[in-house]
Amino acid sequence: MSSSKKSGKQLRSQHSYGKLDRDGFIHRSWMKSEGLPDDVFDGRPVIGICNTWSELTPCNAHLRDIAEYVKRGVWEAGGLPLEFPAMSLGETQMRPTAMLFRNLLAMEVEESIRGNPIDGVVLLGGCDKTTPGQLMGAASVDLPTLIISSGPMLNGKYRGCDIGSGTDVWKFSEAVRAGDMSLEHFMAAENGMSRSPGTCMTMGSASTFACLVEAMGLALPLNGTTPAVDAGRRSLAHQSGRVIVDMVKKDRRLSTVLTRAAMENAIRVHAAIGGSTNAVLHLLAIAGRLGIELSLDDFDTLAGDIPLLVNLQPSGKFLMEDFHYAGGTPAVMKQLDASLNSDAVTITGGPLNDYYKAAEIFNDDVIKPIADPVKEQSGIWVLRGNICPGGAIIKPSAASPELLKHSGRAMVFENIEDFKSRIDHPELDVDENTILVLKGCGPKGYPGMPEVGNMQLPQKLLERGVKDMVRISDARMSGTAFGTVILHASPEAEAGGPLGLVKTGDIIEFDAAARSLSVKISSEEMKRRRAAGEYMPQVGKHKRGYYKLYYDHVLQAEEGCDLDFLVGSSGSVVERESH
Ligand code: FES
Repeated sequence: MSSSKKSGKQLRSQHSYGKLDRDGFIHRSWMKSEGLPDDVFDGRPVIGICNTWSELTPCNAHLRDIAEYVKRGVWEAGGLPLEFPAMSLGETQMRPTAMLFRNLLAMEVEESIRGNPIDGVVLLGGCDKTTPGQLMGAASVDLPTLIISSGPMLNGKYRGCDIGSGTDVWKFSEAVRAGDMSLEHFMAAENGMSRSPGTCMTMGSASTFACLVEAMGLALPLNGTTPAVDAGRRSLAHQSGRVIVDMVKKDRRLSTVLTRAAMENAIRVHAAIGGSTNAVLHLLAIAGRLGIELSLDDFDTLAGDIPLLVNLQPSGKFLMEDFHYAGGTPAVMKQLDASLNSDAVTITGGPLNDYYKAAEIFNDDVIKPIADPVKEQSGIWVLRGNICPGGAIIKPSAASPELLKHSGRAMVFENIEDFKSRIDHPELDVDENTILVLKGCGPKGYPGMPEVGNMQLPQKLLERGVKDMVRISDARMSGTAFGTVILHASPEAEAGGPLGLVKTGDIIEFDAAARSLSVKISSEEMKRRRAAGEYMPQVGKHKRGYYKLYYDHVLQAEEGCDLDFLVGSSGSVVERESH
């Protein structure tokens, strides 16, 4: 074993590997069982590769392969790469919802990074909650950190047409219920939708966040759009391995890249790409870890003038492969140059402008120039009123313009089981003007705030050709979903929010332009209903384990749904020895 390199400040890994004593023997000797030679402990940067690979997360199923390319770059740049696993959150597999476990992943990642002799970390993730959970945990340690996303899967194909993850599932299932598609064709579409490893290839939550980490300078250019199986993603991983070693050498920590300026860039790019509503929760939670001032209202005010530029499902027509070939996120950022903090520093040490100054649009059906956008209205609109004093959100680009100002009678469902048991009943008292209200699906209520806010429409209205209705809940919706869907109503019903007091027959008034959402009942009536205990929370239902911890400590939507005791950072202190 060699003594520590004499190159400036001692790296934190040398507190383990650089000691010529019993403790150093223990740290090095057991690692040598992996075939590592003596000289790799000589003070070179140790790079942890935090991998959410899992066969239960098909979107991340290729990440063991990607990790090998990261290692090439790390070795080449003079570092020591060490891959380690982290809890994987398969969006389509986990019950009751992967979001319940985002904070658990964040805890695991934080303690895995801090507890090990690591100087820098590469986060490998992609499926919706994996990257945000990893980034939250890494932010509370604040080592040099970069991200490589899974990348989108290949475009879906069915009967000669492109079909999009999630978005076409929602469309096809409604078509079956309306009698416009046979069950046989529905089942055949299932075989053509998911053609390769990678994340959903619509602008769902995974694609959104992969583009946003690029816009925040936390990943190399084209991280967001390069298909999972494209050789370009392996090359990006190789180059990222070089970059993370340089970040350690320059002590370029996560907090030097992930700043308020970077988050403002993310919010503006989010609007231009028609990003998922879930990104709101994740960015708020990440900001909380780093002590960055960011509010729910920032999503509305910072991007109010940014139109939709990317014509992708669910707000538009195309899919992620098309977006990549058209120029990807750099081409979008170039259109937004006047609105971006173009000098925000990236993982390379250069400004964000380096990512996009040479970018071009290669297909202006897919990426529109800013002078001729897909839609003028995009981003996230934040609503307030006596239903949602803490706020609620809507994604206008995915809504029906004619429903953005609407007044209607509420049809209330007390929980998801109530909804599923009644929504298709022929006697359900609804028409196209009714507003569907769903309670009990917030962070505490479900628990975990599932993606059920885009409630399916009543079958009898589908059969009459109704395509959209105003829907309100304390739930989330999939980033692949669409409709005039008001989400994240806060405080949620389970936390005593007024949503819990709305009753069937109440008149609800919604005016998106005025950012208002209210039920036409007096404050006295609201008080009377509350005093009468008309919505009862489930306090005490969760008796043990993570569910109890989560229920007792989860924050509301406008604070990002982190656990209250995880907000903030504990830094990268090297703890006392284990022996
Ligand atoms: Fe994993 Fe959509 S299910 S990204």
